[in-house]
Amino acid sequence: MTKSPHMSRREFVTITVGALGAIMAAVIGLPAIGYLLSPALRTQKTDAWIALGSLENYPVGEPTLFTFTRTTVNGWERTANSYGVYVYRKTEDQVTTFANLCTHLSCRVTWQDDEQVYHCPCHDGLFDIDGIVVKGPPPRPLFQYPNKIEDGILSIQLEQV
Ligand code: FES
Repeated sequence: MTKSPHMSRREFVTITVGALGAIMAAVIGLPAIGYLLSPALRTQKTDAWIALGSLENYPVGEPTLFTFTRTTVNGWERTANSYGVYVYRKTEDQVTTFANLCTHLSCRVTWQDDEQVYHCPCHDGLFDIDGIVVKGPPPRPLFQYPNKIEDGILSIQLEQV
C-alpha cells in the first residue's frame, strides 16, 4: 500500500490538537513559572541608611545603645537580624557610631559607665570609649558605621559586619 502525499483527517486533527495544547501550555505555564521563580531571582541590597532618631536624643560624652531588627529577603529566604549601635557624641556635632559586636568572636559588648570601657563578657575583652582595644584577645577596634546627620536626624550606613 502506498502512502498518500496528503494528510489524512486523523493526522490533521492530531497535529492541530497537539499544537493548540502546546500553545495553551505556554500561555498558562510561562507566567506561572515566572511567578514562582521571581522571588529567587530577586536580591535585596544590603547597604542602607538607617535612621537612629534625633541627635538630641543622645547625650554628649556618654555612649548610648540603639537597637533595631532588620529583615532581609534573599530569594525565598527571609532573615531577621538584630543590631546594636553605640552612639558616642564626643562633642555637640562629632558623633561616632560603633557596632556592639566584639571583634574577637562577635559577642555583644556593653558600655560600663563606671570603668569607661566597653566590656565583652565572653573573654573579658575591653575597648576604650573610642572603640580601641585596651585588653584581651580582640584583634581590632570596634567596627564603626559610617554616619551622617541631616536635619538633626542621625543615620548610619548599614553594612555586613
Ligand atoms: S568574643 Fe569578645 S573577647 Fe572573645
